[in-house]
Amino acid sequence: MTDRTAEEIRSVNVRYHDAAAAGYDAKWGICYDELGRAQVLGKLAKALGGPLPRVKRSLEIGAGTGYFTLHLALAGLVAEPLASDISPGMLAALERSAEELGVSVTTARCEAAELPFADGSFDLVLGHAVLHHVPDLDAAFAEFARVLRPGGQLVFCGEPSRGGHRLAELPKRAGLLVAPLWRRALRAPPRELNEHRDHGLEPLVDVRSFSPAELADHAARAGLHDVRVSGEELAASWFGWLNRTLEASADPDAIPTGWYRFAQRGYLTLRRTDERLLEPVLPAGAFYNLMLSARAPKPLAAQPPSAVR
Ligand SMILES: C[S@@+](CC[C@H](N)C(=O)[O-])C[C@H]1O[C@@H](n2cnc3c(N)ncnc32)[C@H](O)[C@@H]1O
Repeated sequence: MTDRTAEEIRSVNVRYHDAAAAGYDAKWGICYDELGRAQVLGKLAKALGGPLPRVKRSLEIGAGTGYFTLHLALAGLVAEPLASDISPGMLAALERSAEELGVSVTTARCEAAELPFADGSFDLVLGHAVLHHVPDLDAAFAEFARVLRPGGQLVFCGEPSRGGHRLAELPKRAGLLVAPLWRRALRAPPRELNEHRDHGLEPLVDVRSFSPAELADHAARAGLHDVRVSGEELAASWFGWLNRTLEASADPDAIPTGWYRFAQRGYLTLRRTDERLLEPVLPAGAFYNLMLSARAPKPLAAQPPSAVR
């Protein structure tokens, strides 16, 4: 954790993500094609232990430029998607993509711990790579539990595990070391200094990483049931962090498209290797990304008799 106040953390997140919004999809390889959809649905299925069923109303927390919600809407899995975020710049980018894709999504600018929605109004509350930015996580989980209908589903993916976060420093450092050689090989000049405007804030936007038990405890303290934490990406995340560090060092327009194709293919191959060889045997905390799923409790009358005490 950090000694900055909740207000300072929120404010830096708004400034950083507003500045990052324009280049965000390119930086993270977010595309609204079949491959992107398979990735999003695959992550959710892994977190839930089975495919996401169709729902009527979903709320995404920290939806950013729309990676998860737009794919869910395109796949016809949500009838009334609502995408929320603290950054107006990210929501503006999401709205532009939704219009281009012909998808209808409602947006709301709000903080995870202060949701302006009625109790029990969503079938699904979801998020990707957002919980580690939120200052008061117990207050946020209380809000997620409040806005879920009884029996509603909660699912979060892409949260950094404490061990994985530490290990990711190695490929990042290696990337900084070999970046000059890599740029020379690709004939790509270094990135102009003024293009790093948002990067001064990058170390300040992340508040925490998690152990699997800590993530599960936040959900349990909010009164959620059927809590499940799993992990994904080890080799793939090392490869990804190395490449992102290299790419961040060069003028983006000078990096050949062949490099991005190589980086994408390598990442997908290593992801499959992680899925087949490592995820079945290693504990969740060994991976870079943690995933959490849980359910809002049903009213007592709706629970099976054995569950009623
Ligand atoms: C790493 S980005 C992830 C965006 C998107 N979910 C994705 O996977 O591409 C984190 C997002 O969380 C948002 N965010 C940060 N702090 C937040 C908070 N306290 N409440 C709600 N959203 C927040 C940021 O503005 C940003 O859009």
